[in-house]
Amino acid sequence: MTTIKTVAVLGATGNLGPALVQALHDANFTVTAITRANSSNPTPSTFPSDVTVKSVDYTSPEALRAAFTGQDAVVSAVATPALGIQIAAIDAAVAAGVKRFIPSEYGVDTRQAVGTTVGNILAKKIEVVEYLQEVVKKGTAPGFSWTGLSTGLFLDWGFDFNGLGVIDLKEKKATIIDSGNEKFYTSTLSHIGRSVAGILLHPDETANKYLATASHNFSQNELLAVVEELTGTKFAVIHEKSEDLTRVGLEKLAAGEPIAFIYFLRTWNGTDGIGHGLTEEESDNALVGVPYEDTKAEVQRWLERAGAGVSTVNKRESYE
Ligand SMILES: NC(=O)c1ccc[n+]([C@@H]2O[C@H](COP(=O)([O-])OP(=O)(O)OC[C@H]3O[C@@H](n4cnc5c(N)ncnc54)[C@H](OP(=O)(O)O)[C@@H]3O)[C@@H](O)[C@H]2O)c1
Repeated sequence: MTTIKTVAVLGATGNLGPALVQALHDANFTVTAITRANSSNPTPSTFPSDVTVKSVDYTSPEALRAAFTGQDAVVSAVATPALGIQIAAIDAAVAAGVKRFIPSEYGVDTRQAVGTTVGNILAKKIEVVEYLQEVVKKGTAPGFSWTGLSTGLFLDWGFDFNGLGVIDLKEKKATIIDSGNEKFYTSTLSHIGRSVAGILLHPDETANKYLATASHNFSQNELLAVVEELTGTKFAVIHEKSEDLTRVGLEKLAAGEPIAFIYFLRTWNGTDGIGHGLTEEESDNALVGVPYEDTKAEVQRWLERAGAGVSTVNKRESYE
């Protein structure tokens, strides 16, 4: 039976990282936050005081190995442009005797994205999971295993960032793709943190698996109905066709504009007949011991943040 007690988190200072650190700490793991030697990101004020922060030169295999020595698990939440550094981190984790590596996924289920435009944009994520599978298959790293985790869109972060691409609270309008009835799954940052902790609390059941968990699963129309109910306001609706979004996305992709990804993400979640919803029964939530949550309560929290004057565009634009 595998036991995990010590966990190093890469990319702990980002959008998701602090929620991972918090949830792992709450689950009584001993947490070390690893930050790049040249990082200009401050240590988040929310870090519990007994979390160790280590500055590491990611270009040095020896430095990475030394940083991982004594760690049972490495959880990566590195930024999208930095996904490639995980190959060196995996090699260092194996060399240091780490038992579990969780790569920076936390979004679209990249297993379903292979061969699609979304998959092409997320090619590094797919490559990293394939590398992990290869390391285990080779059999040269006894005791080493991995778990991938798809969580759908970041929910609370996405609300604050752009109303999840659906709701404009300020202008009281909604942008609905196709019929608006297709369900898609999302997770709050704290839910993702608890799912990751749940993986490490169930290391044998989750070894060498790609999982999908969520805190919510709803359609654009269902989200709009909740917002209208809680605000007591009828929102104007702008209808968009998924094929138009795809056309513009392809143009932006050809022009090398990173925003192209948002177009494909919106069609991934909103196109009629695509089916990227995830019910609680279909999900791996039970495996990691974290249930789905109430949509109305989460929307209410968002409205309170927005009403309290919190900017709705106060997040760094990393969006996958
Ligand atoms: N599902 C969604 O809606 C959604 C939204 C956003 C992101 N995501 C995914 O979630 C994961 C984390 O995203 P995030 O937004 O939390 O990331 P982020 O805030 O952009 O960056 C996370 C951390 O990565 C580290 N980092 C930055 N550049 C690096 C580099 N060149 N090499 C190594 N480390 C570097 C930084 O930590 P230090 O400075 O401390 O080293 C940074 O704080 C990614 O896989 C992303 O694709 C999903």
